[in-house]
Amino acid sequence: MRNKLLAALLSLCLLFAAPACAADMDRPAEQEAEKLSEQSERFTDVPAGAWYAGAVGYCCQQGIMNGTTASTFAPEETLTRAMLVTILWRQAQKPAVDYLMQFSDVPEDQWYSEAVRWAASEKLVSGYGDGRFGTHDPIAQEHLDLIFRRYTEQPVTSGIPGFDGSSRPATRAQAAAAVMNYAQLPQQGIAGSKILVAYFSATGNTRPVAEKVAEAAGGDLFEIVPAQPYTDADLNYSTDCRANAEQNDPDARPAIAGTVEDMDQYEVVLIGYPIWWGRAPKIIHTFLEAYDLSGKTVATFCTSGGSGHEDATLRGYEPDAVWLEGRRFSGTSQVESWVDSLDLPEARSDS
Ligand SMILES: Cc1cc2nc3c(=O)[nH]c(=O)nc-3n(C[C@H](O)[C@H](O)[C@H](O)COP(=O)(O)O)c2cc1C
Repeated sequence: MRNKLLAALLSLCLLFAAPACAADMDRPAEQEAEKLSEQSERFTDVPAGAWYAGAVGYCCQQGIMNGTTASTFAPEETLTRAMLVTILWRQAQKPAVDYLMQFSDVPEDQWYSEAVRWAASEKLVSGYGDGRFGTHDPIAQEHLDLIFRRYTEQPVTSGIPGFDGSSRPATRAQAAAAVMNYAQLPQQGIAGSKILVAYFSATGNTRPVAEKVAEAAGGDLFEIVPAQPYTDADLNYSTDCRANAEQNDPDARPAIAGTVEDMDQYEVVLIGYPIWWGRAPKIIHTFLEAYDLSGKTVATFCTSGGSGHEDATLRGYEPDAVWLEGRRFSGTSQVESWVDSLDLPEARSDS
C-alpha cells in the first residue's frame, strides 16, 4: 500500500502543487498527472476548478470511491455510514477478516458487508448500541472525523470546506478530501505504529531473538554495536575482564558505533540484551542515555545462561515512557507469544 500511496502522492504533487513543482515535471510524470486528472473529468458534476476535483480524481484512480453513475460523482450528496466504512476498507486494501458481525441491518453479501465486518473488528465503528449499524443513515461530520481519526491516528479533516466537525451530515466530496488529506500526510499518516527493535549481542545469542522479535512485531532492527568490540578475553567473566569491570563501574558507558536514524519516527521501542551479572550490560545504559523515549512504549527482552530477568533498573532512564513487562528468553520459540502479549498497535511499514 505504501508504494501505491507514494506513487499516487507523486502524481498529486505534480498535478496540484505549486508552479515550481510543476515546472520540474518530466514528460512521463506529466502523463501520469494527466491520467489522474481525467479520472474526475468524466464526471459532469465535478467542475475542473472545484476544490474537491483533485480529491475525487485521486479516490477514483485508487479505486477508493466510484461515481454514483458513469458520468456523475454526486459530490454534494450525503455520505452514508456504509459508504464511509467502505471507503476506509478500500483504502486499507480490502482486508478479509474472520469476525462475527452482529448488526441486524447489515446483511451478508452486500457491497458494504465485508467493509462493516472489518471496521467493526478494527473497532473503528461500534454501531448504535441497539444492534444496528445504521447502514444507510447519513454520517455526521463529527462521526466521520472520529472514525477517520481512529483509522489514521491523525487529524485529516482540517481545512476541508464546509467541514466543522458538527452533527451536520458529511458529503461525498468531504470524504474524498479526507482520504486525500490522509494520503498526503507524511509517514506518520499511515495507520499503526512504527516499531524499533534495538539489541546488543556480544556472542550471538540475543541476535536471533531480536530478529524474531522484529519479525513478529513488524519492526525495524537496529544493532547496538560497541565502538570497541568485545574480544573473547573481554567477556571471560571468570577473570578480571572488561565486561566485569564495566558492570562493576556505575559510571561505565561503553560507546556505541552508529545511531538510530530519526528515533522520533518510532512509537514503540523494544530493547534486547544479554544478562551480565544479573543486569543489562552498561552499553544499554549508554543507549538509553542517548535517546529520549518519553511517550514511547518500551519493553526489554534478554537472553542469559539461565538466570536473570528483565533489568527493571533501566526503567529509571525513561520515566515518561510506557513500560511493558519484559521477558527473558532461552531461545526463539516463545518470542511470538511474548510479542502478542504486549498487544502492540499494528505495525506500520514504510516500505
Ligand atoms: C560478563 C558476562 C556475565 C554474564 N552473567 C550472566 C548471569 O548473571 N546469568 C546468566 O544466566 N548468564 C550470564 N551470562 C551469560 C549470558 O547472559 C548469555 O550467554 C547470553 O545469552 C549472551 O547473549 P549474547 O550472545 O547475545 O551476548 C554472562 C555472560 C557474560 C559475558
